Amino acid sequence: MHRFSIRVFGCQMNSYDGDRLRTAMLHNGWKESPEDEADVVILVTCSIRAKAEQKAVSEIGRYDAIYRRKKAPAVVLVGCMAQRTGREIAKKFPSVRVVAGPRHLGLVPQAATEISEKTPQRFFMDDDPRALTDLEVVPTARTNPFKAYVTITYGCDRFCSYCIVPYVRGRLQSRSPEAILSETRTLAEGGVKEITLLGQNVDAYGKDMDGGTRFSSLLRSVSEQPGLIRLRFATSHPKDFDEDILEVMAEKPDICRAINLPVQSGSDRILREMNRGYTSGQYLSLVEKIRSALPDVSITTDLIVGFPGETDAEFRESYDLLKEVKFDIVHTAAYSPREGTRAAVMEGQIDNRIKAARLNEINALQSEIARASNEEYTGRELEILADGFAPKGTGKIQGRTMTDKVVIIEGDERDFGRLINVRVTRASHWSLEGERTG
Ligand code: SAH
Ligand code: SF4
Ligand code: F3S
Repeated sequence: MHRFSIRVFGCQMNSYDGDRLRTAMLHNGWKESPEDEADVVILVTCSIRAKAEQKAVSEIGRYDAIYRRKKAPAVVLVGCMAQRTGREIAKKFPSVRVVAGPRHLGLVPQAATEISEKTPQRFFMDDDPRALTDLEVVPTARTNPFKAYVTITYGCDRFCSYCIVPYVRGRLQSRSPEAILSETRTLAEGGVKEITLLGQNVDAYGKDMDGGTRFSSLLRSVSEQPGLIRLRFATSHPKDFDEDILEVMAEKPDICRAINLPVQSGSDRILREMNRGYTSGQYLSLVEKIRSALPDVSITTDLIVGFPGETDAEFRESYDLLKEVKFDIVHTAAYSPREGTRAAVMEGQIDNRIKAARLNEINALQSEIARASNEEYTGRELEILADGFAPKGTGKIQGRTMTDKVVIIEGDERDFGRLINVRVTRASHWSLEGERTG
């Protein structure tokens, strides 16, 4: 066994875990290869919605058919779906040789090395939601050389009634500030220009420890490290987002003016049923506070339509909230029942066709709002951090503004990792086009 391939599904935390696994495998002497040449395929999976799982399962089926003929590739199944249904999946698919929950990544590289046809399938499940055997590796072998994620909290304690995350990622646990700062220092020294601090709820950082460091002070310490050009963070929870974060952001120009603040619904009754811990009024006043502290901020959100019992009128409240706030981006999703969560057994599950219609309607609205908000950028001069090729664009590259807007310009690899001054010439729903200004 010496060639591996890795595929990442799901959120930024999985990207971070995938980059760390890749780095650890390379350290252990493995080579990364295209999947049709790989001895081992590592799948970093997601359980957030049924669709995310179905996709991964169908990929496993595909590898399994090849494995039955050629005895390769062996599948190493990690991430949230591995924790949720890994045992059942392994029963069905003999190619799955190793299964590990998100809190047992530390054991994965060694287990991959020990895979053989004769040894049984191995399971490293997170049976204790507080235990942690993490991978102590700085993700230096990343998909993007200039940008890196750093997880600052594991797990989540909020138990929103629709959400599987607390069941698959375990309880909230903050990493020590020393470990985080040492990692961000190594990354900056290795040429990383932009770091995104990650947590399901970054604002809860330190709240699990007596006298723990607050998120705002962690943010300040990371932003003061030499070498870094930009600092981002995600995700913020409206219930835990404290004003001291805004003070640090106002004080430090390198912290990006972009806040992902998931609202999930505009209806107070649904928010209560979701166990979100705030009302739409409280959410709106937080948005106002953020916008008055940081006038140039971009605010993005997540929204679920078709939560059990959501009436047309309650859906309309979400619709109206989007119209009122005018978010820069809204990540919309149709509610997907997750076994074991409270909402999955609630009465009034909504028909898929209604969910799809609501999703269409809300996406159409948001698409207009986003275009209008992007159009306000036309003619403006901004600084972007160039970070890669534009998708599909022939020879064009892209970068992001401080407010996380994508700007597409002429350029090549030599621009990557650099700050470039641009003037925005055109706006669309999801990106801007620009030209250099010296
Ligand atoms: N911690 C973040 C979000 C994590 S999950 C927060 O508190 O918002 C990412 C997004 O997936 C959520 O914001 C939610 O909009 C969506 N999501 C989670 N569970 C879902 C479900 N069962 N059905 C549909 N969407 C879901
Ligand atoms: Fe899920 Fe809620 Fe935790 Fe976000 S805060 S991860 S939605 S339980
Ligand atoms: Fe998916 Fe797990 Fe992230 S369920 S969204 S990969 S925390």
